[in-house]
Amino acid sequence: MSFLTTEGVARSELEKILYLADEFTEVLARPIRIVPALQGKLIANLFFENSTRTRLSFERAARALSADVMTFSAGSSSLSKGESLKDTALTIEAMGVDLMVVRHSSTGAPRRIDQWTSCLVVNAGDGAHQHPTQALLDAFTLRRHFGGIEGLRVAIVGDIRHSRVARSNLFALTALGAQVTLVAPRTLQPVEYQDWPAAVTESLDEELSRTDVVYLLRIQTERGGASVFPSLPEYVSRYGLTRERFARLPKESVVLHPGPMNRGVEIDDEIARHPRALILDQVANGVAVRMAILFRLLGAR
Ligand code: CP
Repeated sequence: MSFLTTEGVARSELEKILYLADEFTEVLARPIRIVPALQGKLIANLFFENSTRTRLSFERAARALSADVMTFSAGSSSLSKGESLKDTALTIEAMGVDLMVVRHSSTGAPRRIDQWTSCLVVNAGDGAHQHPTQALLDAFTLRRHFGGIEGLRVAIVGDIRHSRVARSNLFALTALGAQVTLVAPRTLQPVEYQDWPAAVTESLDEELSRTDVVYLLRIQTERGGASVFPSLPEYVSRYGLTRERFARLPKESVVLHPGPMNRGVEIDDEIARHPRALILDQVANGVAVRMAILFRLLGAR
């Protein structure tokens, strides 16, 4: 089965991926950081939208499992000659691909490719909809840091409306037992939040003292996020994690960010470098978590 969303995924399935990621973390710490688990499998990375972390992390994960990897970049492809998304996917499938990792700016594109082809599909981020592997690596990072996720109080702060990371984390973290609060100005709160298992507030300052995890999001300018508040300084004054706000957090709390960061906007530069900011741990953990997901999907085939 493909991996397209965290919504509705059972806690037991999420935990299986996290346990597998523990094992792959151990593999990545060995002198020879490769296992033959997916030898002979062919994975295609289809990135129709830009990426640094996710694309390279999937590539690293696939190679560490001994899979063969093909990477497609939209900018240098025949999309510019008018080829459709469907024909692009069918063309790549015809080369013998077992699994496609798909990022696209449109919600639902990975699901359409899953319907059109016989390949397994992993959603690497679709529009403002879902980024499930990001949520799993975030959960893994919190589990390794705190020893568990049950009962953790997580504040996801910023452009919730346009954030696939917020949506994926909301469902994954609550399934694993966390309490999630979404913090955003009214104009950056999603319209569908009444149906979500999360509290919603406009006030970051009221949340600080009762938060174990501050999960910061950047303003998604490419999806219109900057057009719905008066000015950037005004946004920073209410939602930026400044040194003053950081000092009001519980001493055991941590800061996460999916990247890319806008230092000086959602996060102060000094806070981004603080030992309690686990931002590079998230990146490092992403490789083992994506190995776990690829192995869970392809290993049994
Ligand atoms: N977190 C994340 O998705 O980053 P990239 O856009 O660089 O892949």
